[in-house]
Amino acid sequence: MKKLGILVSGRGSNMSAIIDACEQGRISASVEIVLSNNADAKALSIAKERRINTIYISSQTHRDPEQLDVVMCETLLKYNIDLIVLAGFMKKIGPKVLSEFEGKILNIHPSLLPKYGGQGFYGMNIHRAVIAAGDKESGATIHLVCGDYDDGKILAQKSVILDEEDTPESLAKKILKIEHALYVKTIQEIIEERIIL
Ligand code: GRF
Repeated sequence: MKKLGILVSGRGSNMSAIIDACEQGRISASVEIVLSNNADAKALSIAKERRINTIYISSQTHRDPEQLDVVMCETLLKYNIDLIVLAGFMKKIGPKVLSEFEGKILNIHPSLLPKYGGQGFYGMNIHRAVIAAGDKESGATIHLVCGDYDDGKILAQKSVILDEEDTPESLAKKILKIEHALYVKTIQEIIEERIIL
């Protein structure tokens, strides 16, 4: 059984889908720890309700970024995490965690990377840019996390077709709908070594 650590900052719908899949045996792993850098994240309260270990660490709890990186790394090591899953985590991963867990950190991004990735492309900005460019499709990408934003090896993608009436908000919803299944499927394929990191 692999051990997952999920990093969150917000509402946590991807996190919930992954926890469900682990509990139902669709992912052969257990969620050992949910780490949030936002004390008020809905994801944090959902994880607590579901009796999963949680920890809140941020620049508020650790003013020194290096110290924050160390504590984050120690926490993930303490729980023997095999795979770190970013699910709406809004902070850059520190160098210590990156090197200790190299090739074992996943993220999901709501565009077809390399399009609409990198600094500034987050949240509704992405979908606004897609619509402004007149693209006919967008989607979600699962990739490995490296030092730069949205820049690691692409592991899986799924596209959605845009309609004339799509707004940034409706496109965001459309993509979120496919994210959950894509994340669950990809994590299981990694565990089964059908995707090699
Ligand atoms: C998703 O759109 C994901 O692609 C992006 O952040 C959002 C997280 O949503 N990285 P949720 O917290 O999983 O609901």
